Amino acid sequence: MEEEAQDRGVMDVFKWFLFMATDIIGKLSFGESSRTLETGEHGRYPSNHSSLVILANRFTLAARLSPAFSAVPKSRRYARESIARHERLALFSNVFKAKNEERMTPEEVFPEAESYIIAGTGTTSNTLTYLVWSVCSHPKIQEELVRELRSLPQDFGDAELKELPYLALVIEETLRLYSAVPSGLPRIVPPGGAELAGHRLDEGVTVCAQAYSMHNNPDVFPDPLSFKPERWAEPVPKVMRDSFMPWGRGARLCIGMHLAKMELRLSTAKFFLTFPDAKVSTQEGMSDKDMMPPDVYFLMRPPGKRCLIETRSV
Ligand code: HEM
Repeated sequence: MEEEAQDRGVMDVFKWFLFMATDIIGKLSFGESSRTLETGEHGRYPSNHSSLVILANRFTLAARLSPAFSAVPKSRRYARESIARHERLALFSNVFKAKNEERMTPEEVFPEAESYIIAGTGTTSNTLTYLVWSVCSHPKIQEELVRELRSLPQDFGDAELKELPYLALVIEETLRLYSAVPSGLPRIVPPGGAELAGHRLDEGVTVCAQAYSMHNNPDVFPDPLSFKPERWAEPVPKVMRDSFMPWGRGARLCIGMHLAKMELRLSTAKFFLTFPDAKVSTQEGMSDKDMMPPDVYFLMRPPGKRCLIETRSV
């Protein structure tokens, strides 16, 4: 980012966070980073998420992922290559063990690999992009965050970051307002049907709850469209906690939640300590239009596919 800021006058945080998240998921899932940060290129990763997003919606749930994502050749190729490269896997080791013990076929394993790649990259990098953009758009919030981060010891790690209250508020508010998965997360009513809030639901019917509506309910989150980290200051009303579902809910809750939180904390801290004066650029025609999606499909991401930030710190 520093290099880009020097050469180009701006840094595209959307791009660099995507590279970072891709390398992290590659390393942790498959034992080898895809080295996009080093090369500055993202050739093998599917760049066009919107088709994934539409497909994911159509096939009901991206998180049950397989059929939807197998329709995307580029991500499939990357998943195959990633698996072939490394059979000693970290996040992925149980799935791989199942394949070796012939409890899963290669046809079942590839979509699983794809699901890790897809679920673990854009979600995290889009959240980080919206976080940086939101903080840089609110100088008082930025000042307070930078002040808190400067209290960290030189050799801080995630343990120290977890102790920072303001950082936590900023992350919660980003996850509320810019939920990476704001759309319906379908569930099938179990045999025998169910009774929910006075409504009878027949078995086999698909029901959904979606973060977008829950997180923008003005009765729960006053002035819902404003970025206000302080709304998460303790004591947080129970109704707010109950309405907050950026990671989904229940048995199929995001399995990458703790990893993603770690990435969000570390990246936010490193970014604002390195570029404390960062601000949203207007160079190259960058504007809020680049960030505010006109329509939301399955994932939320900046429609301009960029987020240009300026700094005088380099
Ligand atoms: C800020 C980042 C992230 C957000 C907001 C997010 C959000 C979500 C959501 C909403 C779901 C659906 C849960 C449900 O149906 O109830 C999900 C599922 C999933 N996520 Fe994440 N996620 C993030 C990062 C990650 C990362 C880093 C990984 C890496 C392993 C990951 C892996 C998965 C997987 C494999 C599923 C499917 C789980 C299942 O069906 O059992 N996610 N995520």
